[in-house]
Amino acid sequence: MKGIILAGGLGSRLYPLTKITNKHLLPVYDRPMIYYPIQTLVRAGIRDVMIVTGGNWAGDFLRLLGNGKDVGLDHIHYGYQEGEGGIAAALSIAEHFAEGDKVAVVLGDNIIEDDISRSVQKFMKQPEGARILLKKVPDPERFGVAALNGKKISAIEEKPKRPKSHYAVTGFYMYDSKVFDIIRTLKPSGRGELEITDVNNAYLAKGHLGYDFLRGYWTDAGTFESLFRANSLVARKKQKTKKGV
Ligand code: G1P
Repeated sequence: MKGIILAGGLGSRLYPLTKITNKHLLPVYDRPMIYYPIQTLVRAGIRDVMIVTGGNWAGDFLRLLGNGKDVGLDHIHYGYQEGEGGIAAALSIAEHFAEGDKVAVVLGDNIIEDDISRSVQKFMKQPEGARILLKKVPDPERFGVAALNGKKISAIEEKPKRPKSHYAVTGFYMYDSKVFDIIRTLKPSGRGELEITDVNNAYLAKGHLGYDFLRGYWTDAGTFESLFRANSLVARKKQKTKKGV
């Protein structure tokens, strides 16, 4: 399975921090943000990785990461997104890299404590479709939200005003090779983007969407509040690990 990290966007919610660099290169405690999604993939045994970025600081990813030696990789592929277009549009840039394999997609601002190897293994055995990871959160209206009917997902809504559950769809997604055909059928949403939620709903409509719950902490880091939270969570974890707690 191939790994794809989506690290583009303007980071406008973090302005002026993002006036001089890409959001995903900002610090989260003692590492640049992009290290965490890389670690999530490497820990799950996914070592063939492409980073998709864009904007004016794409070269800084290369300066920071090179071929990936410091983050446990032998090589890294890079993709460049011209302009904006949403998460699904960024993903479509990795089509030639995927070469018909299954893909694990992680948003570059998602900080995941859990080892997601078990979900990856389950998806490897899943004959087709997609698999997403859910996490119970206090503020679901900030995310894609999965409504559950018993154990089944009945619908996913992107940033609903009145969420039907507290289960956020986290920024870690696994897809079969049909994902790129699905993206070609999407229409831009109200905010003018090709939404990853629409991709997930297309799999749901076919009955091909599996899911697992994430354990441990999870946060995005794309706003001042969530970036601060990401820093605190990682700092606390590292201090505990140091003390052997
Ligand atoms: C994106 C997705 C959303 C998902 C979230 C996870 O939101 O659109 O469905 O729950 O990532 O971090 P965005 O960060 O673009 O607001």
